[in-house]
Amino acid sequence: MLVTGGAGYIGSHTVVTLIEKGYTPIIIDDFRNANQDVIERLSKITGEEIIYFNVACQDSFRLKGVFGQFPIEGVIHFAADKAVGESVEKPLKYFENNFGGLTSILELVQEFEVKNFVFSSSCTVYGDPEVIPVTEESPVSYNSPYGFTKKVCEEMIEQFVASCPIVKATLLRYFNPVGAHESGLIGEEPDGKPNNLLPFITQTAAGVRKELTVFGDDYDTPDGTCIRDYIHVVDLAEAHVAALENAMNSTENLMVFNVGTGKGSSVLEMIKTFEEETGIELPYKIGPRREGDIKEIYANTDKVNQTLNWESRKTINEAIATSWKFEKYIRELRK
Ligand code: WQD
Repeated sequence: MLVTGGAGYIGSHTVVTLIEKGYTPIIIDDFRNANQDVIERLSKITGEEIIYFNVACQDSFRLKGVFGQFPIEGVIHFAADKAVGESVEKPLKYFENNFGGLTSILELVQEFEVKNFVFSSSCTVYGDPEVIPVTEESPVSYNSPYGFTKKVCEEMIEQFVASCPIVKATLLRYFNPVGAHESGLIGEEPDGKPNNLLPFITQTAAGVRKELTVFGDDYDTPDGTCIRDYIHVVDLAEAHVAALENAMNSTENLMVFNVGTGKGSSVLEMIKTFEEETGIELPYKIGPRREGDIKEIYANTDKVNQTLNWESRKTINEAIATSWKFEKYIRELRK
């Protein structure tokens, strides 16, 4: 199983799950957004030697060498840039990496007749939804260049499979991934200032950041803060294997699933749960709204529950406890 971006946050957890389920993942990563020592830590967790290649997805020539070297049953394509704010500043970087990477991977999928393809999509394709929870049929849109790349990549895949029906593609629309592996050895390690809530919380608790700013408490929600569907990364990793196994037995060649818990939590609830779980009082203040934020989103998960026979099992408390464990580990490691 070829895993692009396999050293990244969701990719690395998926590599662990694949190994646990008896697959042999082959990681493609250029480590632009991950540290090379992740490989060693993956080895520690799984007790296996990890096969990896330091190659960018756009490097078709070297990638072709990898495809030629192993029988590839499926590709899970994680490698992409993902920071919403940065994408507004540098849209071309996002077009080049997200469209370019996907295009060259699909060329090789076609050439080597790889039968299964799983794509990392995002609930960002629902934009600011009018009706919640969102189903896979909810209208798609975008409100950043990053969101635009996810929406267009989905369409690229749709048109590609129409021309190449031996490939079965699954689009997984992730909600908000949180948490870390229970070992605390892999997790989300942002490059510089975190963009996402939970790494910001754990870095604040670790003293890396002075305080957390809650981006607005005047939304029309029960406590005034935004609501998201926070899904444990280990559950999310398992959804990828479920998607691959489903595709192997399916006749459909394009499938789309929401991968979330189906439950929404507010920013203040996340802070409160962190404080309860760790016993640490988190310094935070209420600030203005963040541009581009939507008030509320969470998934309708009926389709993924029924078709993939998958559901989220881990709690937000478990996500917070493992994230905190990872934060402490990585602080020590980077000292
Ligand atoms: C969550 C909530 C913030 C930081 C993410 C990804 C995006 C896409 C969709 C992947 C919001 C609030 C945050 C802080 C805060 N997923 N917050 N203070 O905005 O849902 O977007 O999911 O493809 O790429 O970024 O997630 O973690 O940034 O924010 O109050 O310091 O936390 O306003 O309500 P978001 P997030």
